[in-house]
Amino acid sequence: MQNLAVKVADNLYWVGAIDFDLRTFDIIVPTPFGTTYNSFLLTTNDGNVLFETVKEPFHQEHLERIENVIGKKGQINYIILNHTEPDHSGSLNYILEKHPNATVIATAAALNNLKFISHLSTTVKTACSIKLKSLQVGKYHLKFLIQPFLHWPDTMMTVIEELKVLLPCDFFAVHYAEPKLFDDQVEGKEQVLEKLYKHYFDAVMSPFKASVLKGVQLVETQMGFPVEELQAICCSHGLIIRKDIKKIIEKYKEWSEPQILKNKIVVVYASAYGYTKIMTNRIVEGIRSVGVEVSVYNIIDTTVKEILNDFKDAKGLLLGSPTIVGDATPPFYELLGHMNPFIYSNRLIQCFGSFGWSGEGVKNLIPRIQQLKVKEVNKPLSIRFRPTKEQETECFNWGKDFGTKVIDYHH
Ligand code: FEO
Repeated sequence: MQNLAVKVADNLYWVGAIDFDLRTFDIIVPTPFGTTYNSFLLTTNDGNVLFETVKEPFHQEHLERIENVIGKKGQINYIILNHTEPDHSGSLNYILEKHPNATVIATAAALNNLKFISHLSTTVKTACSIKLKSLQVGKYHLKFLIQPFLHWPDTMMTVIEELKVLLPCDFFAVHYAEPKLFDDQVEGKEQVLEKLYKHYFDAVMSPFKASVLKGVQLVETQMGFPVEELQAICCSHGLIIRKDIKKIIEKYKEWSEPQILKNKIVVVYASAYGYTKIMTNRIVEGIRSVGVEVSVYNIIDTTVKEILNDFKDAKGLLLGSPTIVGDATPPFYELLGHMNPFIYSNRLIQCFGSFGWSGEGVKNLIPRIQQLKVKEVNKPLSIRFRPTKEQETECFNWGKDFGTKVIDYHH
């Protein structure tokens, strides 16, 4: 089957690749509908410009689609990389082999990444970092909107001013393999797609909500023309957006609203013989005594998703793990493994638990909690086997103290 380019606008072509079979992206993101690695080629009478490349295993069909537009002898003069994650930069070497005089244009952070991704000294020699705010190629003006953390430190967006087209790489993207390519050519999939866009945002952009809002502001104020005149958003994954431009921008604003954290604590525990459960009950009573809302989960009866969903609007998290065979129990590592400092460093988190021998459960959870860069309050609480009445009072007071600190905490 011939790999054909698809016309997007005057002199602008999609030359990317479709990955129908991908079921997990970046190790942790489910992609039930596959994805695309979108790359675009702008032809002008003064040189050709390639935007993004594709994931390395797809380089051959990428090259074929490029040749489909400019022929075997045509040259690419500029390669614009809005972001260097290897799903967009992985084929750069193959492009540069064929087009050795191309200039790579990217942010300084992106060019630095390329030294370690592409290992090409020629790339570094010919690349321009973006001190320039715009570039004229033929009759087209390309405007660069630099906004780090959409979703890497290296990210920017490019506007083709004359076409009123935005190329924002991963920003506004979706993992969806669809040969029709354009959102206005896909019918009856609106509900599925809305979920997929939100899923993508949650997985890729949500740790960087402040940057997302700045990115949206750039799009709304710095393109050189109003958003209403934008003809297409050519993202790096999924559909080229022509129909729902305003909708996706509004959704990104809505999804990036800062989360208001409540005076609420999520308590998650496990208990082999009921001793950590006794601790949990007394701690919860202590928290409630100062009027703080509490949710309580036995970690073996719930899911990480349910816990983290409840924790979204809570200031505090308490983890109560017993020690079994010299360690905390695995579900707590799983839960903490799904948390990262970009999202949770503004919370209060502490651990407690009963132990029988030497109490490594609590001790071993502490380093991971510290890695989340949370503010440390209370000391962890460990009790050997069954709490005495005095120790139950200690648990009550420990919970009360943590609850008070949650009330006093303003992030
Ligand atoms: Fe699609 Fe961040 O790469």
